[in-house]
Amino acid sequence: MKNNLTMDKLVALCKNRGIVFPGSEIYGGFANTWDFGPVGVELKNNIKRAWWKRFVQEDPITYGVDAAILMNPTVWQASGHVASFGDPKMDCKKCKQRFRADTLVEKHSKGEVSAEAMSDEELMDYINKHHICCPHCGGFDWTAIRKFNPMFTTSRGTLEEEADKVYLRPETCQGEYVNFLNVQRTTRAKVPFAIAQIGKSFRNEITPGNFLFRTIEFEQMELQMFCHDKDSMDFYNDYKARALKFATDLGLKEENLRFHDHDKLAHYAKAACDIQYQFPIGWQELNGIHHRGTWDLSRHQEYSGKSMLYLDPFTNEKFIPNVIEYSIGADRLTLAVLCEAYDEEELGNGESRIVMHFHPAIAPYKIAILPLQKNLSEKAKEVYATLCKEFMCDYDEAGSIGKRYRRQDEIGTPYCITIDFQTLEDDTVTIRDRDSMNQIRMPIEQICEYMHGKIKFE
Ligand code: GAP
Repeated sequence: MKNNLTMDKLVALCKNRGIVFPGSEIYGGFANTWDFGPVGVELKNNIKRAWWKRFVQEDPITYGVDAAILMNPTVWQASGHVASFGDPKMDCKKCKQRFRADTLVEKHSKGEVSAEAMSDEELMDYINKHHICCPHCGGFDWTAIRKFNPMFTTSRGTLEEEADKVYLRPETCQGEYVNFLNVQRTTRAKVPFAIAQIGKSFRNEITPGNFLFRTIEFEQMELQMFCHDKDSMDFYNDYKARALKFATDLGLKEENLRFHDHDKLAHYAKAACDIQYQFPIGWQELNGIHHRGTWDLSRHQEYSGKSMLYLDPFTNEKFIPNVIEYSIGADRLTLAVLCEAYDEEELGNGESRIVMHFHPAIAPYKIAILPLQKNLSEKAKEVYATLCKEFMCDYDEAGSIGKRYRRQDEIGTPYCITIDFQTLEDDTVTIRDRDSMNQIRMPIEQICEYMHGKIKFE
């Protein structure tokens, strides 16, 4: 990773600059939860908006939904989560900490070994052979590997009886499958068409999370393409390409991204791959693209008793559509964007700066308005009042202009507008570019058009 970026450095920057705070911090925190601060919430919202624009707004055959988090518990029987959703977990007998065996193996091999393809015995063999010790206490005294169902449960009624048990969804896609018929009927969509949504998912993750990488509550951006079997591999390959393009358009460098085809497939799957990103913790999954065959709709047909058969109006063929799924965590993508954007630059005069090179379209603030001196604040606030109607703007009048630039660099604001005494005379301002640090002078009335041209996400 460039500039020796470590997760600790990034966490410290995020905490100091209002990007991400530890969850419930005043109570000593709550493991694997994080709160997005005033800067981070803008970044994550912009990333979600960019995804929605690309995959829903700009695609005439994709429809959005926002399904309930709490679903009829039978959904999770149909999906297989109640019976078999489980990660291979093992406990350190010495310090009682619990870890995912596959994560231990992947970390030890710096991402070179694909642990998802390994059976529990293979994982255990690898751990013994390489003498992988407990990351918490350094001991080497493991329990056997056990499967652990990470679905959070709660209860619907007041009695907390088994019959009232409901689950917090561990993935959003089931909300898309259960609305397949509704969306098709109300939009009059013809197969192939896709359903997308962005929403919270919950998993009782016990493994140390590596900041936003693995959390117990996270947002997923998921899309299910319903298509005929004969077109399914084309869609699978198409989504692989589209997912990669989205990541690079967002600013992730191609050299930090790679495809990772799954060696071991679920019995119903026809193909599956991840796109991995080179995080400071090594190559790790950023998103998944899965060819799920007819499994999902068939299972919901079986458990709900509702026919999922699609009648093709052109060929009169009746079939259950295949599903191609593209799934990416909004928090994990935000982490990748933060890692990619981070830079430490020497400025030549013995000074250095930390700068976040976000793509302007996803930068938390597009513009910072900085009066050169406090007695220019009236004019500066006037400019702010105009520009904040169009763009997320920051306003800062405290401290030297140099320090204020550094602060904006650290939160990745692409443009700083300085109000000086000339502004009072001719209504022009200086605009400083974050990356080149070059400044130009421009009439205030031209700023909106100039900015709109700069912050497009295409
Ligand atoms: N519906 C398919 C599905 O949920 P997944 O590979 O378990 O597949 C998809 O998750 C994506 O969701 C991952 O690639 C990752 O980006 C994100 N994700 C999964 N678990 C996560 C966690 N505990 N914390 C943050 N993001 C997570």
